Amino acid sequence: MMVCEYKPGLEGIPAAQSSISYVDGQKGILEYRGIRIEELAEKSTFLETAYLLIWGELPSKEELKAFEHEVRYHRRIKYRIRDMMKCFPESGHPMDALQASAAALGLFYSLRDLHNPAYIRDSVVRLIATIPTMVAAFQLMRKGNDPIRPRDDLDYSANFLYMLDEKEPDHLMARIFDICLILQVEHTMNASTFSARVTASTLTDPYAVVASAVGTLGGPLHGGANEEVIQMLEKIGSVENVRPYIEHCLQTKSKIMGFGHRVYKVKDPRAIILQGLAEQLFEKFGHDKFYDIAQEMEQVVGEKLGSKGIYPNIDFYSGLVYRKMGIPTDLFTPIFAIARVAGWLAHWKEQLAENRIFRPTQVYNGRHEVTYTPIEQR
Ligand code: ACO
Repeated sequence: MMVCEYKPGLEGIPAAQSSISYVDGQKGILEYRGIRIEELAEKSTFLETAYLLIWGELPSKEELKAFEHEVRYHRRIKYRIRDMMKCFPESGHPMDALQASAAALGLFYSLRDLHNPAYIRDSVVRLIATIPTMVAAFQLMRKGNDPIRPRDDLDYSANFLYMLDEKEPDHLMARIFDICLILQVEHTMNASTFSARVTASTLTDPYAVVASAVGTLGGPLHGGANEEVIQMLEKIGSVENVRPYIEHCLQTKSKIMGFGHRVYKVKDPRAIILQGLAEQLFEKFGHDKFYDIAQEMEQVVGEKLGSKGIYPNIDFYSGLVYRKMGIPTDLFTPIFAIARVAGWLAHWKEQLAENRIFRPTQVYNGRHEVTYTPIEQR
C-alpha cells in the first residue's frame, strides 16, 4: 500500500471528485456547476441555484415551477416534531435544536430507497422545505410563542422571514436574504460537506447526512464564525478601538474572526458581494456604526496580515447583513444551514452515484505491547 505523508486538516488532499462547485483561491473565483456566483447572485434565486447544484443543470421554466411548487407545499412540519421541539430548553443553541430536529425527520421517513430517483427527490424537497420551518419554529417557541404556519403565497425567503418575525418582510430585504442563501449554499470540500459525504458513504438516510453536517457547521472555525464576528464588533465598540484590538490579537496569537480561509488567499468573492448587499441595506434602513468598524478592521487586518493572504471571508459581512435585518445573532449559523443543506444534498447525490465508503488510514504514534496493570496496583 502506498504510504502518504500525514497532513493535519487533510490540507491539499482531495477527498472526492466533484463537479458541483469550483474555487480558485488565488484569483477569488467561485463557480457553481461552472457558473460564477456573481452572475447567480444577480440573476438567480436560491431555489433555482439549489436545483442547479443538485441536478447539475439550470431548470427549465416548467422544472423550476414544479420544484418551487413542491417545496412550497412541503413546508409544514409534523405536529410530533413541533411537540418534540417544545421540549427543547429555550436556552439551548438553535444549531443544536436544528441538528436534533433534522435527525428526527429520519424517524418518520425511515424507508431508505437510495437507488430510487423519486426517493432522492422527495428527500431533497422535504429537507429544503422544512429546515427553515424548524429554525423559525424554535425561534418562536423559545420566546414562549406558538410557531406560525408557513404562508403559501410567499416565496421561499420571504416566507422564512415572515415565520421568524410574524410579519411580511420588506421586498428588498427578502431579495437580499435570498442572495445571501445563494452565496452560502455551496463551497467545495469544506468541513461540513466532508462530514456529509462521509456520512452519506455509509448509505445511511439523508436526514442523518444533514444532521451530521449541521453538527459540523456549528463550530466557530466554520459556520459559527459569523456569530463570533458580531460579538467581536460589539466588543470593539468603536472605530478607534479597532487598531488596538487587532494588535492585541496579533500579540496573543488569537484569531480575528471572519478573516482567513484555507483556500482563499485574496478577499472571498462572497464577502465582496455581501459587502455590497450590506451597503444597500444601510442605505434603505439607516447607517450602522458596526459597518464603519468592519471597514476599519478590513483596512487594519489588510495592513498587518494581507501579506499572509488573510482577508475577509464570507462570515465577516454575512453577520452584518443578518444583524441589520433584525435577526438574532445565534440564528446566523442556522440560516447558513438553511442555505448549505442544498449543497450537502448535491454532495449526497454525487456520493451515492459513485459510492465507496470513506475509510482513511492514520499514523499510529502510540505504544505497543503494554502490559495490563491490575486496578489495585495503579
Ligand atoms: N486571524 C489571525 N491570524 C490568522 C487568521 C485570523 N483570522 N487566520 C489565519 N491566521 C494566521 C494563523 O495564525 C497562521 O499564522 P502562522 O503561520 O504565523 O502560525 C496562518 O495564518 C495560517 O492559519 P491557519 O489557522 O493554519 O489556517 P487554516 O487554513 O488552518 O485555517 C481558518 C483557516 C480556520 C478559516 C482560519 O483562518 C481561522 O481560524 N479564521 C477565523 C475563523 C473564521 O473566520 N472562520 C470562518 C471561515 S469561512 C467558513 O468556514 C464558512
